[in-house]
Amino acid sequence: MSRRNDKNLLVGLDIGTSKIACLVGELKDDDQIEIIGIGTHPSRGLKKGVVVDIESTVQSIQRAVEEAELMAGCEIHSVHAGIAGSHVRSLNSHGITAIKEVEVSQADVDRVIDAARAVAIPADQKILHILPQEFIIDDQEGIREPIGMCGVRLEARVHMVTGALSAAQNVIKCISRCGLDVDDLVLAQLSSSYAVLGEDEKELGVCVIDIGGGTTDLAVFTDGAIRHTAVIPIAGDQVTNDIAVALRTPTQYAEQIKIQHACALTQLTANGEMIEVPSIGDRSPRRLSRQALAEVVEPRYEELLTLLHNELRRSGFEDLVAGGVVLTGGSAQMQGLIELAEDVFQMPVRLGGPQHVIGMEEVVNNPIHSTGVGLLMYARQHRVSRGPELAEHLGLKGLWARARGWFQGNF
Ligand SMILES: Nc1ncnc2c1ncn2[C@@H]1O[C@H](COP(=O)(O)OP(=O)(O)OP(=O)(O)O)[C@@H](O)[C@H]1O
Ligand SMILES: [Mg+2]
Repeated sequence: MSRRNDKNLLVGLDIGTSKIACLVGELKDDDQIEIIGIGTHPSRGLKKGVVVDIESTVQSIQRAVEEAELMAGCEIHSVHAGIAGSHVRSLNSHGITAIKEVEVSQADVDRVIDAARAVAIPADQKILHILPQEFIIDDQEGIREPIGMCGVRLEARVHMVTGALSAAQNVIKCISRCGLDVDDLVLAQLSSSYAVLGEDEKELGVCVIDIGGGTTDLAVFTDGAIRHTAVIPIAGDQVTNDIAVALRTPTQYAEQIKIQHACALTQLTANGEMIEVPSIGDRSPRRLSRQALAEVVEPRYEELLTLLHNELRRSGFEDLVAGGVVLTGGSAQMQGLIELAEDVFQMPVRLGGPQHVIGMEEVVNNPIHSTGVGLLMYARQHRVSRGPELAEHLGLKGLWARARGWFQGNF
């Protein structure tokens, strides 16, 4: 990146099913992130969080990046990118190692994490994250930062996230085709959790749910660490589709009607309010009550929330999330959703937007940007680029070298 000091710029690229957003943040002296540029472009090449059309995705990424570069007055060379999709799996694992020299060193921590990652995973899946939950030194549990502590035996509990090799490769391919390096691939809901959750919520136990266009992503935190992640391939696009089918109206109108008039709770619409619905072909528009619209929307949201509730129950953490549920993502803005969700989950629910950053609040302070803002916060915490390591892990070393070569040749 030119113009500004390279080291102080962070870039997040949220590759969503509905939109691609590129956010540029500047790291201030007090470690705060100020958003200085944002570019968004409708996403055309993804289905349910997965790239299905490389060419369209590349074009959308390029547009979003160019817009962000223009606004921030910088050149973007590398990004932290989000990844989602129902190919994502997660599991908790455990590793043990001997402490070499009485005091725990970084090498001991690396070894114990390596031991924890030694789990059989399907051949078409690759590890995306190994997230330490806690360390145990000689039966002393709950250690967050083991380096420097004394003991004989070091154990680690970790949360492992894996994803389909091809899905990760395609995301990287699209970004590389834009002449950009990937510093890291970050699970979308992990990223959103950085932006919308407070530390106290993570300590107390909380379930964050990002309802986007193509996927709904869930993550559970207790005692300050991530415990469970899941992806459900139902989200806002399904609601739009239901409206299009039930009201016999083209999808683009269904989307407009949804955003302007829909409600996830029928009982909130019982005042006889009417809306106008454009018809297909040259038939004349019809009038319809808002209540009838809500009757289409409510069952789909209810189904989704029930699936999420079952997932939370299955994970075994339902009784441990005392902080309740935090909904984010574009489709979480539906009127009446919080009340419906409280009814399904039987616990407190709130709508969460990106917090903890400054600058461009009027644009960024929107639940659709939770993943993008979270990517910047993740990047701040993990300053070392994992790009080359990731490329090797995903069998993309050649591509990496090519992308770099192309890039160096052009600038
Ligand atoms: N005010 C609103 N009320 C209801 N739904 C909304 C509203 N605004 C946007 N949406 C819906 O939010 C969805 C887009 O959300 P978002 O931008 O978070 O998705 P995405 O990140 O692109 O997709 P995904 O995360 O699933 O890959 C669309 O389905 C859109 O219809
Ligand atoms: Mg999203």
